Amino acid sequence: MNSYAAHIATVQARFDAALAATDFESVLVYAGQPRVAFLDDNAAPFKVNPLFKYWIPVTDSPKSAIFYTPGERPVVFLFQPRDFWHAAVKIAPAEWQEHVELVVIDELDKLTAYLGDKIKTTAFLGEDFAEPVKSWPVRARNPQQLIDHLHFHRALKTDWEIENLRVANERAAKAHLAAKEAFFAGKSELEIHHAYLAAINFRESELPYNSIVGLNEHGAILHYDVYETTAPAESRSFLIDAGATYRGYCADITRTYSRSETGFFADLVKAVDAAQQELLTEIKPGLDYYQLHVSQHLKIAQILSDFDLVRGSAENIYEQGFSSAFFPHGLGHFIGLQVHDVGGFLRNDRGDLYDRDPRHPFLRLLRPIEAGQVFTIEPGLYVVDQLLEAHADAKELNWERIDELRPYGGVRIEDSIVVGENGNNENLTRDAFAKL
Ligand code: GLY
Ligand code: MN
Ligand code: MN
Repeated sequence: MNSYAAHIATVQARFDAALAATDFESVLVYAGQPRVAFLDDNAAPFKVNPLFKYWIPVTDSPKSAIFYTPGERPVVFLFQPRDFWHAAVKIAPAEWQEHVELVVIDELDKLTAYLGDKIKTTAFLGEDFAEPVKSWPVRARNPQQLIDHLHFHRALKTDWEIENLRVANERAAKAHLAAKEAFFAGKSELEIHHAYLAAINFRESELPYNSIVGLNEHGAILHYDVYETTAPAESRSFLIDAGATYRGYCADITRTYSRSETGFFADLVKAVDAAQQELLTEIKPGLDYYQLHVSQHLKIAQILSDFDLVRGSAENIYEQGFSSAFFPHGLGHFIGLQVHDVGGFLRNDRGDLYDRDPRHPFLRLLRPIEAGQVFTIEPGLYVVDQLLEAHADAKELNWERIDELRPYGGVRIEDSIVVGENGNNENLTRDAFAKL
């Protein structure tokens, strides 16, 4: 069996189990449709329902749907409108079509006519803000138990999903090199952003998230996406957090560069990079991701001490919460069909949740590590004045040194890791850069 055939068999088995556990006869997964701006007739870029692209690698066919009854072939209703205003979406012959019953429709009424009374017993998964979908007489809309069941098991990726994530990382790595070159050529943030897109022939709406392209101080703004149109007089540092997609799967990569090869900031980038790589050697099934997060905090705390930004031992710096002021976000998250892939807080497929730790409120992944999971590892160290305010009187903080770092923003290094057995992990991101 090839990898897509095995993937769709796994998806089918997961839906079988989820439907049985939640007592539904069938499921209707709606791809969704574009939302139109308020008082306007312009649509926002279409983002397909992730549970739709879980089945088939079709991301650009709004108003399509998949109907699945356990024991039967999935039916894909492919929406191809008769519309002379827009170009029809071309769906090339592809392998997925051999695994489904394909029904081409040009009106949603044809879907409901095909289903007949079966629509009354089905569970609907998707957005339903528009007619006629809003009025379909389905048995339940987005039942939480069904979603939790599916989300819990999505954490383990199939081989086909990992292949797609590999390609997404190769695309993003290629674009990252173009962006790096544009930074060293002294380009503006917007020019760097354009160089990134051009390198892989992407339009902005194909990116998995708004790229973070920050020069100098902007590197400290965690989700900076302003893109200044003029280059600063001096580009000292560059933080880029940007991804790519392939068949609906997402890459999420961060790199930080120092213009100068030597000096304080160049050394800091190397230190954070080394601390990230050291952490990668600790990933193994059985540990909790939370333990990795704390281990990474201690390494960042050590760097804060080594660079004389904060005085004291790593343990003290961590215990007093200073490392959280410099590294406020989580160590990482699941990644796959969504950049922040789902299920990070789920304890089981019945929807029970892990308790969040108020010390680390932004950590999105609390599950034990298992082979087959894919997640990011993205430590950072930044000067975020808003967070340092709470420690304004702390004698441990070396403000002169912090002032020295502020004009560089900060550092983040982010890779995506496939967990293997016994620490035999795959670094999708570093492998992708190595291939170039
Ligand atoms: N790019 C968003 C994140 O790293 O989580
Ligand atoms: Mn990330
Ligand atoms: Mn990122």
